[in-house]
Amino acid sequence: MKFKRRTHTCGELRESNIGQNVVLNGWVAVRRDLGGVIFIEMRDRHGITQIVFEPSYNSSEHEHGKKLRSEYVISIEGIARKRPEGTENAALPTGQIDVMVDKLIILNHSETPPFPIEDMIDVHEDLRLKYRFLDLRRNEMQKNLLLRHKMYQITRKYFDENGFVEVETPVLMKSTPEGARDFLVPSRMHKGKFYALPQSPQTYKQILMVAGLDRYFQIVKCFRDEDLRADRQYEFTQIDVEMSFVDVEDIFEIVEGLMKEFFKKILNYEITLPLPRLSYDNAMEKYGSDKPDLRINLEMITLNDVFKNSGFRVFKDSVTNNGIVTGLLVKNCGDYTRNQLDVITDFVKKLGAGGLIWMRVKESSSGGDLEAPIAKFLSDDEKQNIIKEMNAAPGDLLFILTGQKIKTLSIMGALRLEMAKRMELIKPDSKPSLLWVTEFPLFEWDEETKRFYAMHHPFTSPRLEDVSLMETDPAKVKARAYDLVLNGNEIAGGSIRIHDSKLQSKMFDALGIGEEEANEKFGFLMNAFKFGAPPHGGIAFGFDRLAMLFAGVSSIRDVIAFPKTSSGISLMDDSPSHVDDKQLTELHIKLK
Ligand code: AMO
Repeated sequence: MKFKRRTHTCGELRESNIGQNVVLNGWVAVRRDLGGVIFIEMRDRHGITQIVFEPSYNSSEHEHGKKLRSEYVISIEGIARKRPEGTENAALPTGQIDVMVDKLIILNHSETPPFPIEDMIDVHEDLRLKYRFLDLRRNEMQKNLLLRHKMYQITRKYFDENGFVEVETPVLMKSTPEGARDFLVPSRMHKGKFYALPQSPQTYKQILMVAGLDRYFQIVKCFRDEDLRADRQYEFTQIDVEMSFVDVEDIFEIVEGLMKEFFKKILNYEITLPLPRLSYDNAMEKYGSDKPDLRINLEMITLNDVFKNSGFRVFKDSVTNNGIVTGLLVKNCGDYTRNQLDVITDFVKKLGAGGLIWMRVKESSSGGDLEAPIAKFLSDDEKQNIIKEMNAAPGDLLFILTGQKIKTLSIMGALRLEMAKRMELIKPDSKPSLLWVTEFPLFEWDEETKRFYAMHHPFTSPRLEDVSLMETDPAKVKARAYDLVLNGNEIAGGSIRIHDSKLQSKMFDALGIGEEEANEKFGFLMNAFKFGAPPHGGIAFGFDRLAMLFAGVSSIRDVIAFPKTSSGISLMDDSPSHVDDKQLTELHIKLK
């Protein structure tokens, strides 16, 4: 079918084009047949232009125009004119003009779409994912993809200007499971052997430092077989970075510079540098999270000192057994009903708390008194000290949780978020909360397997002053690791690496990884380290999470062109799917 090349996009025509002969190509977005005259809103990714079929203007094309239906693909030629007075559309950039059609070519037909191609539709996400090509035709989805595009360009320009080299690393690599499960790819040529899809290019980027690349970055797909959530996909994109001859400060400086660019170019917002920093211990104690959202003006207070000699056993036992008593002050909520408090108690119980202690602060001659089911177990001094420590006033509500430290703090952290939601403490114009969380523990104890795991990964360097503790008190060792947190989301994480083989062996020892296992899994990296590894460190951003936050949406699926559902299925192309027996035989695989 012959059609003319467009002279303008559907978002381009303005009053200055009035009188011009124009050609537009695009889709039929909206069709209104007003008996005599047919109005079509014609769409492409640049915008919408109204085109008009009028019998008195061109009767044969008006007849032709009657055939148009939603999502037909058309090419038109006509004259741009000023819209008749009173019919202008201020909501459209092209709303001052329309185009009188002289020639219509229908380039393709379309079945009736299963949902309207417009913003804010109320449709089940599964249907959108099945017809993703239609979903992506919608303006709000196109905006998200264009945002991603802009982020890629900002990233590449920034790292290029700062002397970084973009290097691609393999997608088929050795399986080194650590953290999540690997996706495996069977080898046809090597019977019984498998490649793995990289969970991240971690080992390759470290080897690139040994190779002398000095400053590396890559926008790269990573693959992790872990449970999916709103902020997690099997395959996701990282901005991966590694630098040689650096310490933590150098990495922070580079990352902060990139964040400044992103905020300026995407949101036209100036962030103040350097970014605030919070140690992991402080983050847990004040906010009950290693990714605290500081837009919420609620802080937790540790009350161990108040209860160290308490007559109330629950508190005293916690304090003496290395546990914690943590409190949360909720201003002006002393009028919460029993019913409301029961719902909140259920909330924390579901998270594993034994119960929730609540207290209302009442007026009294001394300035305040506590009304609570447990009040009778507390001395007057204790009650006054709680009020003082928590800075509480009559009319306030207090929550107290006690138990094993990290678990209890995490549950209170979740309650802090829940109360913020109930009280609508995060306002649309709240300043973004962007901060570093630092000094993570190097190890994490796992009760089930009764061993330590690397909290980040086994190549993370301990703080040099803590090296001697690795053998004597591993739980106390802090790592040279850091996360970047935006509005309560972990958007990046990294560390300074171990580049010394003796320290690396110590690390494997602490993790219970024997020499043979270390060689089998990481021998290639250890081997590279024998040949002059420079001191190095790096970080990786979760690109999809960043895009989600900049787009102001609540799921990373909305900023990924073709995501999987939360059960890991691609509804559009129906993967995963069965394969032919012949394919399996070639791969030496037999299904049970
Ligand atoms: P980490 O495992 O912390 O570090 O990952 C870096 C960032 O990637 C994002 N992310 C995810 N995004 C979407 N879906 C997922 N399943 C997913 N998992 C992680 C997070 C996270 O902060 N190699 C190290 C980095 C380093 O040490 O340099 C790494 O991968 O935003």
